[in-house]
Amino acid sequence: MLVSAKEMLKKAVEGQYAVGQFNINNLEWTKAILLTAQENNSPVILGVSEGAGKYMGGYKTIVGMVNGMIEELNITVPVALHLDHGSYDGALKVIEAGFSSVMFDGSHYSIEENISKTKEIIEIANAKGISVEAEVGSIGGEEDGVVGSGEIADPAECKSIADLGIDMLAAGIGNIHGKYPENWAGLNFDALAAIKDATKDMPLVLHGGTGIPEDMIKKAISLGVAKINVNTECQLAFAKATREYIEAGKDLEGKGFDPRKILAPGFEAIKATVKEKMELFGSVNKA
Ligand code: G3H
Ligand code: ZN
Repeated sequence: MLVSAKEMLKKAVEGQYAVGQFNINNLEWTKAILLTAQENNSPVILGVSEGAGKYMGGYKTIVGMVNGMIEELNITVPVALHLDHGSYDGALKVIEAGFSSVMFDGSHYSIEENISKTKEIIEIANAKGISVEAEVGSIGGEEDGVVGSGEIADPAECKSIADLGIDMLAAGIGNIHGKYPENWAGLNFDALAAIKDATKDMPLVLHGGTGIPEDMIKKAISLGVAKINVNTECQLAFAKATREYIEAGKDLEGKGFDPRKILAPGFEAIKATVKEKMELFGSVNKA
């Protein structure tokens, strides 16, 4: 059964580790992440962007697929199905479809409008036991058509949003979606510490988890980050493994053209990436 992200993140703050949100794109992605979570006895959050939601055939299709896998693959670790960078309408749709968690990304609105819309989503989501993530400041780069300015979050604004009763807060602290540029300045830990101080025990979310050096991940967790989002890194691992299979001509040998064979190396590459992240984030054996 799907669960809200509330309890798993509360436990993560107390235990000083982070739960990974891994974005899904299709059946292989979903199965790889769920099996890895189960094998490592780790809680997990499956992230779905609005673009990926459309690609997979719609939110109800995804709910059916994830619930079916949880039952038939005997997944017993806590799993939350979470809308990533959702619009107001997208948030309403996933709540209706049966997601257990939602991000309303109002970071491109004025803080007043972000607050009022986040408040409305909280009321609707909480009535169904669904957890809510909000965003203040902005994550740099682009993800699935969502472009961010990279603005560092203001601690007072973070507190205003946190006090509404959200379950997790994404704050821009110099993090960027996609690959980090060579000249990246790194995470802004002074900003993170000030946000932590202003929001107390609020689980903080680190977006743009791809390619952040290990020492920065650990420091971020020590400063209150309890959820880390990873998307691009699984895509890169999948693409590399698939390319190697095709370039080696394996799709031309025997039954190598069978999609179940072509997609197998990429599937294993996602599993390896997710396992590595769960170990780094400290969520192994925390289910
Ligand atoms: O919302 C999802 C993410 O923040 C993932 O970022 O693609 O850089 O790993 P990433
Ligand atoms: Zn993100």
